[in-house]
Amino acid sequence: MLNNRIIEPPYLATASGLLNLVKHTRPWNIILVLIGALAAAVAVAWAMGRHTSSASAGSPHPGPDASYDQTLVAKGAWLAAIGNCNTCHTASNGRTFAGGRPLSTPFGTIYATNITPDRETGIGSWSASDFLRAMHQGVDREGRDLYPAFPYDHFTHVANEDVNAIYAFLMTRDPVRAKTPANRILVPRPAISVWKALYFKPGPLAPDAAHDASWNRGRYLVDGLAHCGGCHTPRNALGAEKEREDLAGGTVEGWRAPALNEASPAPSLWTAEQLVVYLRTGFDAAHGTAAGAMAPVAHNLSSVPEAEVSAIAVYIAARMAASAGARATAAGNAPGSQGAAPVERSARGDDARQADVRPAKDGDAIYRTACADCHDGGRRGIALGYSSSMTDTTPANLIRVTLDGIHPREGEKGELMPAFRGALDDTQLASLIAFLRARFSRAPPWQDIGGEVAKAKRERESEDRKSS
Ligand code: HEC
Ligand code: HEC
Ligand code: HEC
Repeated sequence: MLNNRIIEPPYLATASGLLNLVKHTRPWNIILVLIGALAAAVAVAWAMGRHTSSASAGSPHPGPDASYDQTLVAKGAWLAAIGNCNTCHTASNGRTFAGGRPLSTPFGTIYATNITPDRETGIGSWSASDFLRAMHQGVDREGRDLYPAFPYDHFTHVANEDVNAIYAFLMTRDPVRAKTPANRILVPRPAISVWKALYFKPGPLAPDAAHDASWNRGRYLVDGLAHCGGCHTPRNALGAEKEREDLAGGTVEGWRAPALNEASPAPSLWTAEQLVVYLRTGFDAAHGTAAGAMAPVAHNLSSVPEAEVSAIAVYIAARMAASAGARATAAGNAPGSQGAAPVERSARGDDARQADVRPAKDGDAIYRTACADCHDGGRRGIALGYSSSMTDTTPANLIRVTLDGIHPREGEKGELMPAFRGALDDTQLASLIAFLRARFSRAPPWQDIGGEVAKAKRERESEDRKSS
């Protein structure tokens, strides 16, 4: 898997919104008091109303020993891949789906559970309807609310027949005995009902008659099972996706998940065909590589029938297209010139933004010695002007790729791009980043590159500590 070390632990972008709130107010006490008060007011009534029906939970006829139709199991396998169940429900070096992967949040750590059919430590005693209820309502077999780190705000849109196929697939995996570690989290489970009352909208999405079947299938997958918005949509202070900024770009594990709507920062318009290639192989020659938290997503989609990925691509391309013409014009490219040559300015540009020549010159020199051999003219990596990491609102991804390099997928040989974390000090890295932005995009300079560099380094250090 690409960048194995960076993608862990999986996202819970709840973090970023909360962290912002935390920065600007006096954090914990306020949030906790708020949640506590709301919980007191709403939780009881709401939870009772919702869960009285859960008395039927825990049907005595679980499924691991049942025999399932192989076609159904095969369909469940690729649907589970679209849902990235393995990414969250597998610990590093752990057995697939056996859980135990820590998801860090500002509230503490939540562990993804064991979803193998082990009867004691997994979901082996869950009936199909227990499972359906978990996916659609975000409650466990006993009817307790589940933390929305489990993206049931999206899975609630998944059709019963698709959920049943995933159930058949999971129930035919090997049961693994693995007890999920206890969560270390400040928000008590009962407070989840408040969150749900505020933000959770259960139920299917109505098809949009204004669009064709492929677009509708794509939206069904993107908003539902694939939960693309789990990373690509910004979140509010309580960790809920901002509905009105659907796919407008989010943050995950320190990476920027770029906008996939009309605010897409891509230097050239993504076509549906390019999206299919990128999503299924993790690389597209006109846009680059799926790194960071996107790497396992693309890895999973490589096992999914092309028609499904095409539908996703059709929908995303349509979402991005909305103002692409305007963007191309603003960037000085001819409108509609898809795949137009990316920006590349002269290193000695007379632009006022490069008035501060010293860092630019240093960055220039570093680029020529460290990067140009591969990236100039796209000899090994793509020409950097093609990459959204140059044009996006933050330098987060550019910094992380430079620090970590690009690694081949699991099972593939060779190193694609070396990690520069040991080779460049913070000042060099910052001036390189500033230089690249000025050279390879027409966007305004990034503010506070130094702060981003320091943040990325801190994250790397804490990961190193964890893994040692
Ligand atoms: C982004 C991470 C993430 C993804 C993706 C994810 N899950 Fe989970 N899931 C979790 C977490 C975390 C929990 C535990 C929540 C809690 O403890 O309240 C969980 C809980 C569950 C539960 C409840 C299990 C129990 O013992 O209570 C089921 C069932 C489940 N997930 C199934 C799935 C399936 C099926 C998929 C793929 C379609 C999936 N999950 C994808 C993070 C994830
Ligand atoms: C040994 C060749 C090599 C060197 C040296 C190298 N790269 Fe790369 N780089 C690659 C390859 C291969 C990829 C993966 C294909 C791609 O996405 O361009 C890549 C990917 C990238 C990407 C991701 C582009 C995207 O969005 O997909 C960025 C950004 C990047 N490199 C920046 C740099 C910078 C900055 C330097 C110098 C500090 C550098 N690279 C040095 C080979 C190299
Ligand atoms: C676990 C978090 C996560 C999920 C889920 C996710 N993405 Fe991403 N995605 C990212 C990150 C992080 C990047 C930036 C990666 C990079 O620059 O190499 C990204 C990059 C992309 C890009 C490249 C954008 C550009 O302009 O370069 C596309 C396209 C994309 N994702 C589509 C999707 C689609 C479609 C889905 C759902 C099927 C999805 N993503 C689900 C995290 C995620």
